[in-house]
Amino acid sequence: MADATGTRSSDLEQELERLLEIETFPPPDDFRSAAVVGDEGIYEEAERDWKAFWERQADALDWFERWDTVLDDSNPPFYKWFTGGKLNVAHNCLDRHVDAGRGDRVAFHWRGEEGEERDVTYADLLRDVKKFANVLKAHGIGPGDVVGIYLPMIPEVVVAMLACARIGAPHNVVFGGFSAGSVRERMEFSEAKALVTVDGARRKGKTAPVKAQVDEVMGDLETIQTIFVVQHTGAEAPMGDRDVWWHEAMEQADEECEAVPLDAEHPLYILYTSGSTAKPKGILHTTGGYLTQVAYTHRLVFDLKPDSDVYWCSADVGWVTGHSYIVYGPLANGATSVMYEGAPDYPHKGIWWELCERYGVTIFYTAPTAIRACIKWGAEHVERFDLSSLRLLGSVGEPINPKAWLWYHKVVGGERCPIVDTWWQTETGGIMISPLPGITHTKPGSATRPLPGIEAAVVSEEGEDAGTGQGLLTLRRPWPSMLRTLYKEEERFVETYFSKFGREIYFVGDAARRDDDGYFWVIGRVDDVINVSGHRLSTAEVESAIVSHPKVAESAVIGQADEDTGQAITAFVTLEGDLDGSDELVEEIREHVARRIGKLARPKRVIWSDDLPKTRSGKIMRRLLRDIAEGRELGDVTTLRDPDVMQQLEQKVKERQSTGEE
Ligand code: WT7
Repeated sequence: MADATGTRSSDLEQELERLLEIETFPPPDDFRSAAVVGDEGIYEEAERDWKAFWERQADALDWFERWDTVLDDSNPPFYKWFTGGKLNVAHNCLDRHVDAGRGDRVAFHWRGEEGEERDVTYADLLRDVKKFANVLKAHGIGPGDVVGIYLPMIPEVVVAMLACARIGAPHNVVFGGFSAGSVRERMEFSEAKALVTVDGARRKGKTAPVKAQVDEVMGDLETIQTIFVVQHTGAEAPMGDRDVWWHEAMEQADEECEAVPLDAEHPLYILYTSGSTAKPKGILHTTGGYLTQVAYTHRLVFDLKPDSDVYWCSADVGWVTGHSYIVYGPLANGATSVMYEGAPDYPHKGIWWELCERYGVTIFYTAPTAIRACIKWGAEHVERFDLSSLRLLGSVGEPINPKAWLWYHKVVGGERCPIVDTWWQTETGGIMISPLPGITHTKPGSATRPLPGIEAAVVSEEGEDAGTGQGLLTLRRPWPSMLRTLYKEEERFVETYFSKFGREIYFVGDAARRDDDGYFWVIGRVDDVINVSGHRLSTAEVESAIVSHPKVAESAVIGQADEDTGQAITAFVTLEGDLDGSDELVEEIREHVARRIGKLARPKRVIWSDDLPKTRSGKIMRRLLRDIAEGRELGDVTTLRDPDVMQQLEQKVKERQSTGEE
């Protein structure tokens, strides 16, 4: 490469090669000396008495009544934390900051997709949360009633969540990228009484008619008594008998609304996530333990100095990352955050970095898939902006490959910002394995060690310590922000997480390895869960969507390693009768899946197959399909009902590759 840009990018390549030689990255001295935690002693302190340790973290919150028992572990795995204690999450996130004279502090620098800006202060949020809490009450919503939320990244989503928390109505947020059909399913499972949605949502210059789409599927769902509609884009929104405009209701709402003292174990929210079957799991989180751990981890892992930091988590509120690290953790800590409505490449590929410069972002938290996209777009989109305000970077959602880690470190962090690779799950509620940026010597690709208070281990199938070999990740003791159950599916909760190694050891579902320094290297899922761009999907869920297409007879879905998205969905599809596959039909199936689940679930690759490899009992052997798709030697095929199927499939996959269709 001799041209000007070529030279530049090869300089960067060389720099990255140099960094690849470095095994561990100690915290810079100036970072360490000013860090929230600068002393290793915290691990030992927590180990000496972990319950007392968590108790001290809970003390950082405002309690209306103190707990009598830190942890009730009399009936595992149904653990209860801080029993007897009473508190309110909205009070902790808003009132106490305003009462302390920080009402004028910006909670969110909101930025709209077309460049609109709105600074929302803690006092603004508190006022709106009280009003919307009154609106909910006026529509018959009370403690324990489930409220669905299907909104884009606008400040109203935070208001709606906190208003629910204020009155003890568990919310059930559905990611805006999921289809209306997915919303319906989740509202039905959770028996939601109300839904908060929007007229339309903007995406890269286009507007999706959200309210109209919701109406199409929600018509006969009678448990939903009220649909609140935020007017955001002016998109045509049909309004029926049970529909209420947000702004009209807010205009009339009273501004006074006391925060209800709620039991520490009162349900805060349900969040559906994919499991190994087609039916998503309703992860239930409660009040006191959840808030304790998300506030603690947000302060320590992100080294938060609320008076001076500007924090930005680029996730969507519809995922657990958004719940814990856009809404509850940051607000409990009185942080100032950035909230961006748009896509990372709209209106241009440098927009994230433009916003970092604009708002003086100091802490930035994103996903490896986003970093890989930035690498692809080129360092020049980052380098155009002044990122000198950044002092700490975070990663979440999937294992970060060393190359992406180093690029993030070099191009975004200017080699001066520690990176915290945070491992956790929807189920864990908060971060579990992560560096503490003031003390941990990081290694690219490792989430390093369990946080103080947490105990993790890698074990064999039989539950024995795996040493430095690969094994199954487990969590050995309860933690405050753990899920309490699967909503209305208690048995499935025990079966999924607390049966493989007994009722006191949490089975994570990830494979991992521990190195000689005791650092954890998470490898990926061991179940039928696919991780696409850090988003969890189940093979069964996608299969059932594909099979619901009238021309499809059968389908098997696998996650295939993918350079951009970590894993990508490959679907093997058998058509009805003697129908032939075509490019048009591929598009039809992809579109069908988008409508049923959401765009993110569309298969990247469709492979037509006359038959699928099945055991004699009829079980599809996904392991073999993965081998085929990734071009590996086939494993044992002797248990197959019809071993010829594999040869035919192998031929098909090869043909596709040779025609360059990939
Ligand atoms: C699964 C959880 C945690 C919020 C986002 C995803 C994978 C997550 C990491 C990481 C390696 C990671 C695991 C986990 N994962 N973070 N830092 N390193 N893997 O939440 O949808 O509940 O998915 O994401 O496989 O089990 P989720």
